[in-house]
Amino acid sequence: MPEKPPHPDVFDEDFARRRDAARKRLDAIDPARQHGGALADPKRREWFEAVYALADDDAAGVPWGNLAAHPLLQDWLARDRGLSGASALDVGCGLGDNAAALAGWGAKVTAFDFVPRAVEWARCRFADKGVTFVAADLFAAPADWREAFDFVHETYTLQALPSELLPAARQALADFVKPGGRLLVISRARDEAQKIDGPPWPLARRDVEAIANCGLVVEQLEDVLAPSTAVRHWRALFRKRHGAGA
Ligand SMILES: C[S@@+](CC[C@H](N)C(=O)[O-])C[C@H]1O[C@@H](n2cnc3c(N)ncnc32)[C@H](O)[C@@H]1O
Repeated sequence: MPEKPPHPDVFDEDFARRRDAARKRLDAIDPARQHGGALADPKRREWFEAVYALADDDAAGVPWGNLAAHPLLQDWLARDRGLSGASALDVGCGLGDNAAALAGWGAKVTAFDFVPRAVEWARCRFADKGVTFVAADLFAAPADWREAFDFVHETYTLQALPSELLPAARQALADFVKPGGRLLVISRARDEAQKIDGPPWPLARRDVEAIANCGLVVEQLEDVLAPSTAVRHWRALFRKRHGAGA
C-alpha cells in the first residue's frame, strides 16, 4: 500500500498523481530491479541521486517526501523522551522533516544524507531550525562522529539497503552512539517467511534484533501499525552498553 503523505495541505489528487508517476519512473531505473544492476551500484547511490535530481524541487517526486516527520517518530517524541539538550544524529535525512522534529524537541541535531541535493533541499527547508545538515555516507562517516551522539535516529534507511549491506549498516549506526546513549530505528516490518518485492525491503524481526550484536541492548521493540496507513512497522529502541567500544 503506498504511504499517504500525512500533510493535509499538500496531499491532494494532483500530488498523488505526481507521486505515482514518479514511483513508476524511478522503479524503471532502479538498479535493484534490474538484472545485474545491484552489482554495478550496490549502495544504489546513483539511483538516490536520480530521485532528488528528477524530482526537480517537487516533493511529490521523492517517494518518501511526505513533508512531515514520520508519524511513528512524532508519536514517540510526543511522549517526553528527554531529548532537550541532547546531541542527536539523523541518518539518511532525506528532505529533513525528521531532523527538524528532533530539533523541535530540543535536541542539537546533525543530519546527513549521501545525496548532496537532498542535503541542500533539507537545509533550505529548515534554515531556521538550527539543524546542521551534512553530506556524508553512512559507510564512510566523519571519524569524529564515532560515539559522539546521545541519540541516533534512522527511519527507512536500513530498509532501502540490499541485505548484504545490513551488517555494516547496523555496525555504523551503533558506532555513532555514545556509551549509555540511544538508537531509535523505524522501518517497515515483515514476517521472516514473507516474500518481498523490494526495494524497499521491509525488515524481519531478526534483522532489527541483530543491532544488539553491535554493543547495544534492546530497550523496546514494537510491532506497530503506522497511524496514517495501517502498514506494519518496527519501532525499536536500543541503548549502548558502557564499555561496549565502537
Ligand atoms: C528511504 S529514504 C528515507 C529518508 C528519510 N529518513 C525519511 O524518512 O524521509 C533513505 C534516505 O537515505 C539516504 N541514504 C541511502 N544510503 C545512504 C548512505 N549510505 N549514506 C547516507 N545516506 C544514505 C538516501 O539518499 C535517502 O535520502
